[in-house]
Amino acid sequence: MSHEIFNPLDPETIRDPYPVYRTLRESDPVHWHEELQAWILTRHADCTSVLKNPDLFTADFRKVGVPTPGPLLSLQTLDPPDQTPLRHFAVEALRSQDLKQLERDAETRAAALLDGLAGRETFDFVADFATPFTLGTISQLVGMPPPEADEEWRRHNERLHRSMDSGLDPDSEEAGLAARQHFSDYVARWLAGKPETGISGFVAANRHRVDYPDEVLFNSLRAFWHAGFEVPARFLGNALVTLQQHPDAAAGIWDDIDTAVEELVRFSGPVHVVSRAAVADTTIGGRAVRCGDMVVAVLAAANRDPQRFTDPERLDMRRDPNPHLGFGRGTHSCLGNVVARIEARVALRALHDRYPGLSVVGTERFANATLHGHSSIRVRPAGVLAAVH
Ligand code: HEM
Repeated sequence: MSHEIFNPLDPETIRDPYPVYRTLRESDPVHWHEELQAWILTRHADCTSVLKNPDLFTADFRKVGVPTPGPLLSLQTLDPPDQTPLRHFAVEALRSQDLKQLERDAETRAAALLDGLAGRETFDFVADFATPFTLGTISQLVGMPPPEADEEWRRHNERLHRSMDSGLDPDSEEAGLAARQHFSDYVARWLAGKPETGISGFVAANRHRVDYPDEVLFNSLRAFWHAGFEVPARFLGNALVTLQQHPDAAAGIWDDIDTAVEELVRFSGPVHVVSRAAVADTTIGGRAVRCGDMVVAVLAAANRDPQRFTDPERLDMRRDPNPHLGFGRGTHSCLGNVVARIEARVALRALHDRYPGLSVVGTERFANATLHGHSSIRVRPAGVLAAVH
């Protein structure tokens, strides 16, 4: 049974999925998973060709007869040509922003957050730094204050997060849709107030230029905003733990921080899987795939494929070129990768400057197979990150 080979939510797999990915890649790289009713792809070449061919492997599941619930209709669930004007609009909105200023303000934000933790014997890197840092940065970029971070916000966010695994955990779907709707309603109210700054200001002023239903526009901005803090917060946590686990390799991080960030995305990027559906009969790696079949590209497995990367299990801060799939590929590739890179270099630099002796003293993981990361990383300000220097 496939679950015996690959059960993505098995606690051991959540803790460290890479051995299972490797076994799959070596033994059955285009694996039909009976319980998931999906093809699991673990080779770089197969994942890349699926992501680069939206005409054959769609993100719009309506094309294979699976309805898309309203809160999911966005630029993430449309394909070209339907997606194209919206994707271009989003890119233009991002380019209209002063990203140099965003970076300077992110530096100030990171320093202030870390200063505020001074004197503590330990703190939670996720709750006390990574989440407020990424949330503050995306809020500035979008020009929209985050909804009040109260109990209701926390509950909706948890439900949205859990529902990323709804393919594995169907019970999580309904609450996840309600959470998305809740956040989209917030975006709609914000846009109705005619914001003047940030990406929401751009959208409010230029909305007439794109012909999409309000629902699609609001959901797309919500997706941008939500991905803009949740995913980089997971990434920063993974990066910190990876650096602590590989002190020798980590020593090279400051030689070229941008190259190092790419390697951290390859080695411990948080987005492990993305899904598509085949819209016609075809083959992948010699296996017959039928129209309507679901195809899961395991980006994290592709990122350690020895056919694509020399010595892929080694964290190599000077790896270049680094054609990782951590930001996806093709028409749905990460719209916020520039912002993610800014956040990564600012946060790692600030952490190193302020607490060069930082050490991780305990971690807890989210039981999430799509977005791998930690719910808590307890750190002691004095200790080990000095080894990283
Ligand atoms: C290290 C941090 C990040 C990682 C690893 C990451 C990764 C990814 C990946 C793998 C995809 C492709 C999904 C697919 O193919 O279905 C994606 C899409 C996306 N990302 Fe990111 N992301 C990060 C940060 C961000 C940030 C900061 C933003 C916003 C500022 C953002 C906004 C988006 C959006 C809107 C999409 C959907 C694009 C589309 O479907 O056209 N991401 N991201």
